[in-house]
Amino acid sequence: MAKITKLDDIVSLCKRRGFIFQSSEIYGGLASCYDYGPLGVELKRNVREAWWKDVVRMRDDVVGLDCSILMHPLVWKASGHADKFADLIAECKKCNTRTRVDHLKDHAEEHAEHVDIDTAMAAEHDLSGKVCPSCGKVGNFTEPMPFKLMFETQMGANVDDSMTLYLRPETAQGIFANFRNVLDTTRVKIPFGIAQIGKSFRNEVTTKAFIFRTREFEQAEIEFFCEPGTDEDWYEDWKEKRFNWYVDLGIKKENLRFRDHDPDELAHYAKACVDVEYKFPFGSGDWQELEGIANRTDYDLRQHQRGMRTLNDWYEKKGDLTAITLKDEAEDNHKGPLSYFDEQEKKRYIPYVIEPSAGIDRSVLAFLVDAYDEEEVKGATRNLLRFHPALAPTKVAVFPLVKKNCLQNIAHNISNDLKKYFTCFYDQKGAVGRRYRRQDEAGTPYCVTVDGQTLEDKTVTVRDRDSMEQIRVSTDQLTAHLREKLEL
Ligand code: GAP
Repeated sequence: MAKITKLDDIVSLCKRRGFIFQSSEIYGGLASCYDYGPLGVELKRNVREAWWKDVVRMRDDVVGLDCSILMHPLVWKASGHADKFADLIAECKKCNTRTRVDHLKDHAEEHAEHVDIDTAMAAEHDLSGKVCPSCGKVGNFTEPMPFKLMFETQMGANVDDSMTLYLRPETAQGIFANFRNVLDTTRVKIPFGIAQIGKSFRNEVTTKAFIFRTREFEQAEIEFFCEPGTDEDWYEDWKEKRFNWYVDLGIKKENLRFRDHDPDELAHYAKACVDVEYKFPFGSGDWQELEGIANRTDYDLRQHQRGMRTLNDWYEKKGDLTAITLKDEAEDNHKGPLSYFDEQEKKRYIPYVIEPSAGIDRSVLAFLVDAYDEEEVKGATRNLLRFHPALAPTKVAVFPLVKKNCLQNIAHNISNDLKKYFTCFYDQKGAVGRRYRRQDEAGTPYCVTVDGQTLEDKTVTVRDRDSMEQIRVSTDQLTAHLREKLEL
């Protein structure tokens, strides 16, 4: 079994089969931005759908949300992003290329996530022997400086009342800002979670590695609210659930692992954090973050209570975030607007939060890499994507064996019937062997072929992608047979 060993192989497969294209390719491409093609868009939808089904639809204690990307600027002051969401960079004095200092220090860590800016600023940085990755000049860098990662934009047409907004760098804050709304409008009781899938934006200094780290990406996040004291149990519970989600969808266990964050690596809000890592085929270390699971304590809700108390200052300073300081917490902070009243226990508190935060694009990449396989069949190489049926972009392909009206009509009718239940692709062009190979590369679990025997006994062949075994199934049993096989 040959596996993808280089990122280039997956990039070329994605282009060749219409999974993922470079954005604006006809204009030479836009760095670090990607478009999902016909197969990619189905795959990505299936990844989102599998996540939503697992964490929202199948549970009684999680509800969904879809917040706007643009939010009130104070959200980002309260969350800490406005002041702290930055990477420490140094600029090459020869070619002006800016590089993350942690990447200059140790290329093995080139794909590591953001280092806490306060920790990075406090550390000693000797860049005298470091090589500029762009021009190769040694030790010719500026002093390290912070580089803010949030994208800015302007809202409003009038010069006087336009204001600076930020494209959200995580979906999580929309959930915290709606905590009260969800409490007041639904019947949720703690412990419960709010889940959201949506785009996030970060002006990353280093992108690379295809869709692994981009400036525009999609996140799938859950903020799970629980009573302080129960947080550690919920943390363990979510760790197990999220790890198993990847395994249940076909990722091989040996390619997944947990990595606990060191205390100096923890984000400013976290009591504990663990990454689910996948063995990606790039970087000298290979193991890279797929998802982070953090114990965010009551940090965010408390911070937003401070943010709410600071609103008047924000108006007075005409929206200048740098000129305002968040108000201290109120003395009766635990009774604030974002607190929770436990009716049964008759007590009020600010809930703790466990946050499983996954990347949809990064998951798509992991599912693609893990599903890829090559094997020798009758002296030729067969390339295939062994996707779990729930993720496969096309579930079934239907072919007439040869281009004959009577076979084409039956095949068309079968395809139209199956489309009511799952994505189905009709193809009558070229030799049937070649059509099978195309579907193998697209990861289609089953191919249905209508042939001469269909006219005699109303049966068709059903070919299994993984084993290539073919069986005959009667047309009136076909839908039930495929639904059972696909578990759909
Ligand atoms: N709310 C917590 C949070 O945003 P994070 O570790 O920064 O945590 C969570 O991001 C996940 O989002 C990551 O594990 C990764 O899958 C995805 N992600 C983060 N930055 C990304 C980027 N620049 N490109 C693609 N995916 C990214």
